[in-house]
Parts: sequence; C-alpha cells; structure tokens
Amino acid sequence: MDAQHNSGQDSLDQSSYWNGYYRSGGVPELPSQFALFVAGELASGAVEPVAAILDIGCGNGRDSVFFAQLGHAIGGLDRSEQAIAACTARLDAMPRSAPAKALFQSGCAESGAIEALADAFEGPLLVYSRFFFHAVDQAAEAEILGRVGRLLTQRGGALAAEFRTIHDSDGTRETGAHYRRYVDPAAYGARLADSGLQVTWQVQGRGMAKYRSDDAHVARIVARPW
Ligand SMILES: C[S@@+](CC[C@H](N)C(=O)[O-])C[C@H]1O[C@@H](n2cnc3c(N)ncnc32)[C@H](O)[C@@H]1O
Repeated sequence: MDAQHNSGQDSLDQSSYWNGYYRSGGVPELPSQFALFVAGELASGAVEPVAAILDIGCGNGRDSVFFAQLGHAIGGLDRSEQAIAACTARLDAMPRSAPAKALFQSGCAESGAIEALADAFEGPLLVYSRFFFHAVDQAAEAEILGRVGRLLTQRGGALAAEFRTIHDSDGTRETGAHYRRYVDPAAYGARLADSGLQVTWQVQGRGMAKYRSDDAHVARIVARPW
C-alpha cells in the first residue's frame, strides 16, 4: 500500500508550492539520470520509435528540452505556469540544428490536458513521467492512468515512469516540504493493469535519482497497452 507523507502542505497548495519552487531559480538544470536512460532505450530500439514524447509534470523542461535537442518531437505538460514559462525560455535559448516540434502547455494532467497535448501530434506516443506520480494523490493517479491507458491503446506507444517508492519515506530531502506520496510499485503495476497497461520492464533501488545527499529509492517502469 502507498504511504502518504504530507510534510507541511496539502495537495491543494501544490500549485503555489510549485510556482514558488520554479520562481526560486534553485532548480536542477541538467537532464535527469532517467532521461538519459530513456534516451538510450529509444536510441537502441529497446523502446520502439514514437511520433512524440509527452512529458507529464515536465517541470522546468530539463528532460523535455534534452529530448528535443536529440531531435524528438516533444509535448510538455505541467500544472505550474511558472514551470511552463521556464520550459519556453529554455527552448528558445537552445541551439537546434533541425528543430523538431516542441510544445509546452500548462494544465492539470487529470483534467483532459494530456489528450489536448496529444492531439498536437499524430502517431504512437511515449508518455514520459519523472518524479510526477508521487507528487499527486491516488485519486489523481487513477484518473491520469485511465487517461494514459486509453490514449496509448488508441495511439500505440509506451509509458516510462520514475517515482519515489514506499522504501523512500524517510531520509534526506534537498527540496522544501511539500506533498509526496510514496508509491508501492507492485500496487502501481496492478493499477496500470486496471488501466489497460502491462508492465514490460521495471527496476527499483537507489543510485538512479541522486541529487546531492538525497539518494531516493525509486522505481522505473515501462508499460505498454495489453
Ligand atoms: C517533482 S516535480 C518533477 C519535475 C520534473 N519532471 C523533474 O523531474 O525535474 C513534479 C511536477 O509535477 C507538476 N504537477 C503536480 N501536479 C500536477 C498535475 N496534477 N498536473 C500536471 N502537473 C502537475 C508540478 O508542478 C511539478 O513541476
């Protein structure tokens, strides 16, 4: 079972927390270890070619702009307007020899914004999501997985997600107090199955998402339509 850890703010305050976080400027700029992993899986063919990558909870665009630099078409979605402003600025500053389509939109993933973003692209999609599912409550997760499951069943493609697990509920944190839900990977896999997606690869552990002294225990999951 997932463990909720509501350190100082409830989920209703999420929007102001994340806007403040991205306004603060103290946000990692380099692409995450997970983005490098996923880029490698795409390059090697372990993850099938897709028409676009949809980055759900894209934050400041550290990963989505990295994907765009590699030539992938990219759609970024985040609830924080400040995050989307950072993505747009990053994209504008980025040298790109052969620009692929890149689109960033603010909106809530549980309210139809994923489908709206997907409509801008044709063909199979990689729904990419890093450190997002533990940042939303379980009701939102259920809504989002249902939407992603239906989308990928229609369009083809895969989901690649990384999130903090139940084994990460204590330890050093390098970011401020905010809502985190420590996710049980087995239960998450069962919820994926209920949403029409099967886990085709997964791993858990530390050392994959280290930031200063926060060496998070994370799960990485790749799932595809049944
Ligand atoms: C921990 S950050 C991860 C950002 C980025 N993926 C990264 O790895 O650096 C979680 C992000 O999810 C966004 N977010 C939270 N709830 C959301 C929702 N319901 N819909 C869309 N974005 C949301 C936040 O604004 C924040 O940018």
